[in-house]
Amino acid sequence: MKSILEGRPGLTREVNKVAEVAGYLWQKGWAERNGGNITINVTEFVDDEIRQMPAITEPKPIGATLPHLKGCYFFCKGTQKRMRDLARWPMENGSIIRICDDCASYVIIADQPVIPTSEVAAHLTVHNTLIAEGGKKKATVHTHPIELVAMSHTNKFLEKDVLTNLLWSMIPETKAFCPRGLGIVPYKMAGSVELAEATLEELKDYDVVMWEKHGVFAADTDAMDAFDQIDVLTKAAQIYINARCMGFEPDGMSEEQMKEMTIAYNLPK
Ligand code: 13P
Ligand code: ZN
Repeated sequence: MKSILEGRPGLTREVNKVAEVAGYLWQKGWAERNGGNITINVTEFVDDEIRQMPAITEPKPIGATLPHLKGCYFFCKGTQKRMRDLARWPMENGSIIRICDDCASYVIIADQPVIPTSEVAAHLTVHNTLIAEGGKKKATVHTHPIELVAMSHTNKFLEKDVLTNLLWSMIPETKAFCPRGLGIVPYKMAGSVELAEATLEELKDYDVVMWEKHGVFAADTDAMDAFDQIDVLTKAAQIYINARCMGFEPDGMSEEQMKEMTIAYNLPK
């Protein structure tokens, strides 16, 4: 069977980035079993032939009506599929979907009827807003980084901006590469529309969002950039935890050092 990727280098490149990131997530220990999911907006690579491809599944509701997704196509990790398998065989562990004209449901068009992630509502709700904003962000990544999830198990780190400021102060470039910080979504059922809506709300103000006692969610230009955001925050969390394991509370960069950094890198306050 011919893959939709054949003869489409642009689409292939983006799907390969997803596969590469999926491998990193597994290697990092953030992707137990089927944990985590990735979706990318691939509409810019869609040609007439793809537009005419028949659906290979019945329409399935998204759980929300998302008007900006009209005519859009996404590559999505399959539900219950493993990141480590997605890394090697992306088109067997993910699929390309077309949003139906009602903007509230989708069909799978290629390569195989691999059902998209159970977090499809969160991913597509965020993509809907990314399109509305007209920016360059095309990828959303959800994963279960050990240190950040562990830190979400205490209320003191769930207060507004406490974790953001702590993580920024652990190593200078955290703020440079994650300048809007980490938003917090209080615990909500995995895969729920409530979780999707709360994620969208937090992403208005933050680069990455923490799902309390579950994982994180990031949106960026491509899968690699979204991964980098989470990786940078996790590195800072590891430094904090390592210091605590050595028996002391780390000082963190001083207010003055943070200010100097913020000005040097021209970052938002
Ligand atoms: P899926 O296998 O449906 O993508 O779910 C994994 C997950 O992390 C849910 O939050
Ligand atoms: Zn999850």
